[in-house]
Amino acid sequence: MRARTNRAWRRVMIVLATICALNATGEGAIYDESEVPEYALPDPLLLCDGTKVKDAETWREKRRPEILNLFREHVYGRSPGKPKTMAYVTTSVEKKALNGKATRKEITVYFTGREQDPNMSILVYLPNNRPRPVPAFLGLNFSGNHAIHSDPGITLSKQWMRDRSGAGVVNNRATEASRGKSASRWPVERILERGYALATIYYGDIDPDFDDGFKNGVHPAFYEEGQSEPAPDEWGSISAWAWGLSRALDCFETDGDIDHKRVAVIGHSRLGKTSLWAGARDERFALVISNDSGCGGAALSRRRFGETVKRINTSFPHWFCGNFKKYNDNEDELPVDQHMLIALMAPRPVYVASAEQDRWADPRGEFLSAKGASPVYELLGAEGLPVDEMPGLSQPAMGAVAYHIRPGKHDVTDYDWERYMDLADKHLRRKE
Ligand code: GCU
Repeated sequence: MRARTNRAWRRVMIVLATICALNATGEGAIYDESEVPEYALPDPLLLCDGTKVKDAETWREKRRPEILNLFREHVYGRSPGKPKTMAYVTTSVEKKALNGKATRKEITVYFTGREQDPNMSILVYLPNNRPRPVPAFLGLNFSGNHAIHSDPGITLSKQWMRDRSGAGVVNNRATEASRGKSASRWPVERILERGYALATIYYGDIDPDFDDGFKNGVHPAFYEEGQSEPAPDEWGSISAWAWGLSRALDCFETDGDIDHKRVAVIGHSRLGKTSLWAGARDERFALVISNDSGCGGAALSRRRFGETVKRINTSFPHWFCGNFKKYNDNEDELPVDQHMLIALMAPRPVYVASAEQDRWADPRGEFLSAKGASPVYELLGAEGLPVDEMPGLSQPAMGAVAYHIRPGKHDVTDYDWERYMDLADKHLRRKE
């Protein structure tokens, strides 16, 4: 009798576990191309009043600002400009880091100039054998600066971070055991060897990644008198993270080590959504990289393949602005789609990359978005994506718009980095 009850319980538990697993992987999501509904994409080269954009000037003066505003109002939310009173403090310099290959610097950026307000710490590695200022890759990281490399000289982050079994985070704080845990995503030595600097910031310095009604992070420091949360068209967390990336560029404008005119902004997944939005709203970024950014990043929302607008707004209500929720199950009403976000980079180089097993992020939707941005590049005299069909695995297509899909899962790999550096070599390297 007892054995039978136990068996019955076990079965219930297995069913429950299966339901949870299905939810985590997107139960009910579209994973079959034949189920993608018919949709019509808005034309990036058609002004809201119906006029066709036929020259670079109309794009620059009219259509680009129009699209940027639509994304601000309906998707990511408006953020404040550059604060008037920022302060930068270099907290450490090691000229013989990584066996003498690099100079390691840490800089704290005080967003309001006041120490009690939020600040972010930028970790910089500069190649020692290259003339300064050097071109650089700038990217936010998920687990603290100290997690990108086992270099013991990197300051351990004291910020809140998500507990991750095996990642050395206990009670939402990093421990010594978390050093270097994300190193596979940051091939620091290769980046230096290829002649680039690397700058990175823990994204939680700017806004911790959980839904707390915007009580922590940078938002409160910029509220109007009496304001307690962002208005429906004001910044969510992605906008705040992107704003933080621009503040890092402000800092590089003041120092002679990194060439602020040759900075590539890179991000993976939610941080790929962020690098795209950063590159769109701040044209100082010379190259923009989206690694597996998916829904709300490079993937077309109207395809509803994998993660949808409703799913993302439900799981992560703090990422986008309040207005974006109007488009839950209502994608066709969006005044934009994500190919127009890519078009905002034009004519600057942009790289969209996917992974074969990362179906949640809709690789085909990411490709179509890069393709859909190409007419804008061509209008501006730059090369769009130089293929018509989605390329096979590990066959990068590189115009000023670049795309690849590689085998494997949702991650950042050496293969991805090598291709990004190939694109950077074409556009950011000076003849030395
Ligand atoms: C979740 C989320 C994605 C996001 C990803 C990540 O899977 O649904 O939109 O890109 O997390 O950031 O790792």
